[in-house]
This record gives sequence, C-alpha cells and structure tokens, in this order.
Amino acid sequence: MNGNKTLIAYVTKSGVTEENAEIIKQILQEQHGFDVDLVNLKKNSKPDLSQYDNIIIGSGIRMGMWYGKAKKFLKKNFDNKKVAIFLSSGMAGVPESYDEAISKFINKKLAKHPHIHPVATEAFGGRYSNFDYTNTEKVKAWALELGEKLKV
Ligand SMILES: Cc1cc2nc3c(=O)[nH]c(=O)nc-3n(C[C@H](O)[C@H](O)[C@H](O)COP(=O)(O)O)c2cc1C
Repeated sequence: MNGNKTLIAYVTKSGVTEENAEIIKQILQEQHGFDVDLVNLKKNSKPDLSQYDNIIIGSGIRMGMWYGKAKKFLKKNFDNKKVAIFLSSGMAGVPESYDEAISKFINKKLAKHPHIHPVATEAFGGRYSNFDYTNTEKVKAWALELGEKLKV
C-alpha cells in the first residue's frame, strides 16, 4: 500500500451524501493524487477493507439517527487505517443548530465507538422538502484539508 488508497463508504436516501461523496472523491483524486473508490453501502454492505489505507464514512441523518447501514459499518475494524466521517443533516445546515448537530450526531456517536479515532469529522447541510442547505464549497474545502491530514 502506498498510503493513499481510499474508500468512501456512504449511505444516502435523498442524494446529498452521495453528491458530497463524489465531490470528496474528485478533490482527493485531482488535488491530492489519491486512488479513491466509492461504495454505496446499500448496494455493497461488506466492501473488502484490507486494501485501503483510508476509510471515509458518509451518512445522512433522519429522525435524529444515522442511516442503518452506515451505523453498522461503524462497527468494523479500522486498525491501522485513517478514518474520516461526514454527515448530511438538516440541522447542520442551519447556523443556530450546527453545534447541536455536531454534538448529537458526531460526538455522541463517536463516544459509543471508542475504537474509532477519526482524523476529521464534519456535518454538512442537507436537503428536504423545500429546504436546501447544501454547500458545495464547504465540502470541497473540507476535502482539500482532509487530503493533507490523510497524507501525514
Ligand atoms: C423524513 C426526514 C427526517 C429527517 N430528520 C432529520 C433529523 O432528525 N435531523 C436532521 O438534522 N435532519 C433531518 N432530515 C434532513 C436530512 O438530514 C436531509 O434530507 C439530508 O439531505 C439527508 O441526507 P441524504 O440526502 O444523503 O439522504 C430529515 C429529512 C427527512 C426527509
């Protein structure tokens, strides 16, 4: 392994997490020269992790919860791999509730999975009914920084 083989494993229902996964893939490939595979965990819930140096996990949030297949994926063994997490959440897209989203959906979740020590986490805005809190520039900037952290 040369240190940049990366898997982005995600689950989406309304499409935002998939769009963001594709943006992250593109930035890591084009700006950092990484070798990136995308896996939709609903289509393949058991990707072979052995070949990857880095695992990036993406999930949407509904009813205050991560999507089931992403939740399950968190239980995998990530020893000797760098891990990053990104979410899509309505709450995270609104400045007034962003901190609460991070606390509920990232900090509390990670407290239940002490074997995971992500190099980066973020919750991006989502999309539902007439609301669109997506922010492509924020996702790109995060991915650009993430590439630096994964290289260390
Ligand atoms: C039925 C439903 C329930 C939702 N519940 C929440 C919620 O509890 N908290 C939140 O922050 N966003 C909530 N959202 C907004 C989603 O996070 C948003 O749709 C996001 O884009 C989901 O990710 P996805 O597009 O990858 O499926 C909800 C959206 C729907 C449609």
